Amino acid sequence: MQSDPQRYTVTAALPYANGPVHIGHLAGVYLPADIYVRYLRAAGRDVKFICGSDEHGVPITIRAQKEGVTPQQVVDKYHALIRDSFVDFGVSFDIYSRTSSATHREVSSGFFLKLYNDGKFVEQTSQQYYDEKADQFLADRYIVGTCPNCGNENAYGDQCEKCGSSLSPTELINPRSMLSGNQPVLRDTKHWYLPLDQYEPWLREWIIEGHKGDWKANVYGQCKSWIDQGLHPRAVTRDLDWGVPVPVPGAEGKVLYVWFDAPIGYISATKDLLPDTWETYWKDSGTKLVHFIGKDNIVFHCIIFPAMLKAHGEYILPDNVPANEFLNLEGDKISTSRNWAVWLHEYLQDFPGKADVLRYVLCANAPETKDNDFTWKDFQARNNNELLATFGNFVNRAVVLTHKYFGGKIPARNELTDFDQEVLQQLSEFPTRIGQLIDNYRFRDALAELLNLARLGNKYLADTEPWKLIKTDESRVATILNIALQITASLTTLVEPFLPATSAKLEAMLQIEKTAWYAAGNPDALPAGHQVGEAFLLFDKIEDATVEAQVQKLLDTKKANQLASAPVTPAKENVSFDDFSRMDLRIGTIIAAEKVAKTKKLLKLTIDTGLDERTIVSGIAEFFIPEALVGQQVMVLLNLAPREIKGIESQGMLLLAENADGSLALMQPGQQTRNGSVVL
Ligand code: 2FM
Ligand code: ZN
Repeated sequence: MQSDPQRYTVTAALPYANGPVHIGHLAGVYLPADIYVRYLRAAGRDVKFICGSDEHGVPITIRAQKEGVTPQQVVDKYHALIRDSFVDFGVSFDIYSRTSSATHREVSSGFFLKLYNDGKFVEQTSQQYYDEKADQFLADRYIVGTCPNCGNENAYGDQCEKCGSSLSPTELINPRSMLSGNQPVLRDTKHWYLPLDQYEPWLREWIIEGHKGDWKANVYGQCKSWIDQGLHPRAVTRDLDWGVPVPVPGAEGKVLYVWFDAPIGYISATKDLLPDTWETYWKDSGTKLVHFIGKDNIVFHCIIFPAMLKAHGEYILPDNVPANEFLNLEGDKISTSRNWAVWLHEYLQDFPGKADVLRYVLCANAPETKDNDFTWKDFQARNNNELLATFGNFVNRAVVLTHKYFGGKIPARNELTDFDQEVLQQLSEFPTRIGQLIDNYRFRDALAELLNLARLGNKYLADTEPWKLIKTDESRVATILNIALQITASLTTLVEPFLPATSAKLEAMLQIEKTAWYAAGNPDALPAGHQVGEAFLLFDKIEDATVEAQVQKLLDTKKANQLASAPVTPAKENVSFDDFSRMDLRIGTIIAAEKVAKTKKLLKLTIDTGLDERTIVSGIAEFFIPEALVGQQVMVLLNLAPREIKGIESQGMLLLAENADGSLALMQPGQQTRNGSVVL
């Protein structure tokens, strides 16, 4: 571990620009990275905080295909959405770049070429699936087929999402192309491989010997297990038309593999930020490089990217890769495809001005050493009990009392009691204690200590009771409020990495500027006579109804998912065309609708069939309001033999579609159609 570096390069995993960011991303990567960087800045360190959108790779092309747009349109849309929501969440990147930029193309091509020219790659021809109709090789994700392990008929070429086993495309039974639906054929294709096996001895020494006890146990453990299983050459190119073209002869139609180009994106973003001095942040041994990532990215950042940097030869290596585990949501794994997530842009809309509350909850409950769970109840409780009742309440009392007794001017301290001295001593120790925890990537503990400082303030006021002393001993109250206000000034600085908007509010309320980190324990940060502003609430109560609405949103999602995955009713036996044509199906319009008395389910409908006006009794009363049906066009079976239902003759049948939950939908023509039209 580098103990006293000259500067820091801090990166946060480049999010794929194929969807919005959710709370799992924030808790795992972006929030801890931002806390770390804000702290380093406050401690006077030279630090650059680098991120951007990961705009290549198959997930982008699949999303484009699904949405019927171009990959460029997909990345433009999500790049802007992600960038803006990070800003609103207070993530303080020095640059948020993108891997479709010209700089990135130049830097990543140059990186590949250097390795190519230095003979660092192995060229290998292998057989891969090719779609003859679409005239292209198929990425693993573009091939679906039956899983050899569980029989799932829609397993992907790299993974079966039903049983979780990882697959290679040739293992699939009955493979088919997602592009054309055709069966793909195997064809020869040439690719360039980074021979990771050659780097194994070096990786063993660098990680297993060099970073034991220094990297987090989850990170170290995963690396050790990869290396112990034996490393193999990894292809760094792909047959695809979306990405950075492979810059060598004979590579037409090939691009750099997204996991080759994406981490180089950190370097190109730094070059965009600092065109003249970027190399200092990547090549000077006085620079400490730290990658913040989620646990699914460990192998790429700890093994493959370092091997690439080592092969290149000019770059420094990461000093640490503090990957977090995963955050679950209400007891279930966060999933983009199942829409089981709290999306950042939606949170910011639903809770305007409350980015800090989410920052607080996600940090207090961060999955630093094991997977953790986010619940809306916990969100509410932490806001109401910790932010509002502890932190906000202390600041409010100190400022309100100062206005009440001293017109908002900070009173001078008089003689100090042992208790006062003890409190000031404790205050002076907080910056170092919190700083050391952040230096060691223990953000939860650091935040807990910050709250302890607010608790110290609360206890100090509760024990000294200035509101009782004011009548008899104003000079003692002056001392008490002076000390309480010194604590609020320290909080202004020390809270900033965690809750930057709250720190800014404190600056406005106290009419001060936050100090440098290690000056925050200074008992004289606020000089006597300084006028503080009016008190206002830093946090407000989150009501039951607010979180219940969020829980309801999730319940709706769960229900929609259950419906979508419910089994479809099996097919019936075939019927002859003659049987079918004996049914007289027509379009008609409902001209009257009313409930059948003394029944729950029945509606009496009058239908204009184009031939006549007739009555049909239908069991749809639980799903439709009669008035809303009037004027709707429907499909009707005219020649169903009439029958009597509750004393009414029903002359035909309304056609309906039944959802998996038993709810019903009208079968309607897609456009206005003449009554009496025959349904074929
Ligand atoms: O897992 C992901 O979301 C990737 N887009 C992370 C890339 S990190 C870096 F290598 F760019
Ligand atoms: Zn399976």
